Amino acid sequence: MDKEVVNIVDRRTGAAYDLPFFKGAVRAMDLRQIKTGPEDFGVMTYDPAFLNTASCQSAITFIDGDKGILRYRGYPVEQLAENCTFLEVAYLLLNGELPSALELKQWVEAITTHTMLHETTKKFLEGFRHNAHPMGMFISTVAALSTVYPESRHVLDPEIRRLQIRRLIGKVPTIAAYTYRHSLGFPYVYPDNDLSYAANFMNMLWKMVEPKYQANPVLARALDILFILHADHEQNCSTNVMRAVGSSQADPFLATAAAAAALSGPLHGGANEEVLRMLDEIGTKDRVHAYVDSVKAGKGKLMGFGHRVYKNYDPRARIIKWAAGKVFEVTGGNPKLEIALELERIALEDEYFIKRKLYPNVDFYSGIMYQAMGFRPEMFTVLFAIPRTVGWLAQWQEMIEDPEQKIARPRQIYTGYEARNVVPMEKRAAAAVTA
Ligand code: COA
Repeated sequence: MDKEVVNIVDRRTGAAYDLPFFKGAVRAMDLRQIKTGPEDFGVMTYDPAFLNTASCQSAITFIDGDKGILRYRGYPVEQLAENCTFLEVAYLLLNGELPSALELKQWVEAITTHTMLHETTKKFLEGFRHNAHPMGMFISTVAALSTVYPESRHVLDPEIRRLQIRRLIGKVPTIAAYTYRHSLGFPYVYPDNDLSYAANFMNMLWKMVEPKYQANPVLARALDILFILHADHEQNCSTNVMRAVGSSQADPFLATAAAAAALSGPLHGGANEEVLRMLDEIGTKDRVHAYVDSVKAGKGKLMGFGHRVYKNYDPRARIIKWAAGKVFEVTGGNPKLEIALELERIALEDEYFIKRKLYPNVDFYSGIMYQAMGFRPEMFTVLFAIPRTVGWLAQWQEMIEDPEQKIARPRQIYTGYEARNVVPMEKRAAAAVTA
C-alpha cells in the first residue's frame, strides 16, 4: 500500500480517493475530483484568513513558530543581526547567497546609485497636507514612482526587474525621510552616498545646517539591526498582498505600495505605534496590573503581544530588547521601557497569556527604541516598510519566476440570494440598508 497518500472516503457517494502528498501538503486542486455527479463543482477547501493554506513554495524565509526560529535562506536571523549589514542581508534575500567582499561593494554601489528622487517626485510630496500621516505619504509616493519609471511594467524582463528592485531599495529611505521632513515643514535633505544605508537615512531625517552629518555609530548600527530583523517574514499579510498584486503583473512600484498599505494596519505593521499609545495610556508602572486585567476582561488587546505564527517568544523581540539596551546607553533611560518590562513580566506570568501562547512580538520593544532614537510614533510603520521592501521584492521575484504561479484568485462559498428579478422602483418596499 502506498503510504505517501491520504485516503478520503466520500460518505455521500461511497467513493474512495487516494490523494498524494506534496511536500507534506495536499494539493487543493486534487480535492476537485471528489464530486457527487458530473454537475457537481467538486470539493473546495474553506480557509478564511489562510490559517492552513500554503499559497506558494518559497526558499527565502523559514519560520518555526513553536520553536521561535527565524532563518533567511537558512541563516539564523540572530547570526545575521550579529555579523552582517542590512544591505548584505538584502543581497542574501534577493540572490540566495551572502555576497563576497567584491559582490557587496558592487551591490552597495548599485543601491546608492539609486537613492535620489526625481525632482517631480519631491514636488509631488509637497502637495500633501502638513499633517498627513507619513505612511499615507509613503504609500502614495511609492505608487507614484510607477509613473516615473513606466518601463517597470515589463515585469517578465529580468533586467528590467533587476533595475526596479535596486531603485526601490535605494529610494524607500529617501521617500521615508522626506515624509518626515514634510510633516515638520523642513527642507528635504539629499542623500549622502558616502554614508551607510542606515546612516544616510539618519542624515536625510535629521541633518540641519551642519556641512556633513555625523551619525552616532551605535544608533546607526541599532537601526541597521532593526532593518535586518524586519527584512522578511515569509507569507505575512503584506507579503501576501505583494504576491497577489504582483500576480496580475502590475509593476513592482504599485505592488510595493499595495503591500505597504497592508502593512499600515494596526494588526500588522501599525502595532508598534499602538504599543506606545498603550504605554502612554497605562502611564505608570503601578497601573500595569489594572491594565492587564482590563485586557483579560475583553477591553482591547495587549498591543505588541501575540502572533499568528510564533507561539513561543518571537526571536526578533529578543534581539530588539538587546539592541534597545544599547540605544538607551546612548540616549539615556526611557520611563516607557520600565512600564514595558513590567507589562512583559506580568503578562508572561499570567494564566490568560500563557494558555493562549501570547508572547511579546517584534513590535513590543521596537517602538520604545525608535522613540528613544528620536522618531515620532507616526514614523514607526514607515521604518518597518523600508527594510520589508526587500522581503516583498524577493518574494515578488520568486513569484514571477515560479512557473506554477498564476493570477491569484481565491474561491468563495456563495451565501447570497438565488437568482431573482428586479422589482420596479414604485413597488419596492423600504428596506434597512447598512451601506
Ligand atoms: N492581547 C490579548 N489577547 C490576545 C492578544 C493580545 N495581544 N492576541 C490574541 N489574543 C487572544 C484572542 O482574543 C484570542 O482569545 P480567545 O481564544 O479567548 O478568543 C486568542 O488570544 C487567539 O487570538 P487570535 O486573534 O485568534 O490570534 P491570531 O493569530 O488571529 O492574531 C494577532 C494574531 C497578531 C493579530 C493578535 O495576536 C493581535 O492582534 N495582537 C496585537 C497586535 C499586534 O501586536 N500585532 C503585531 C503582530 S507582529
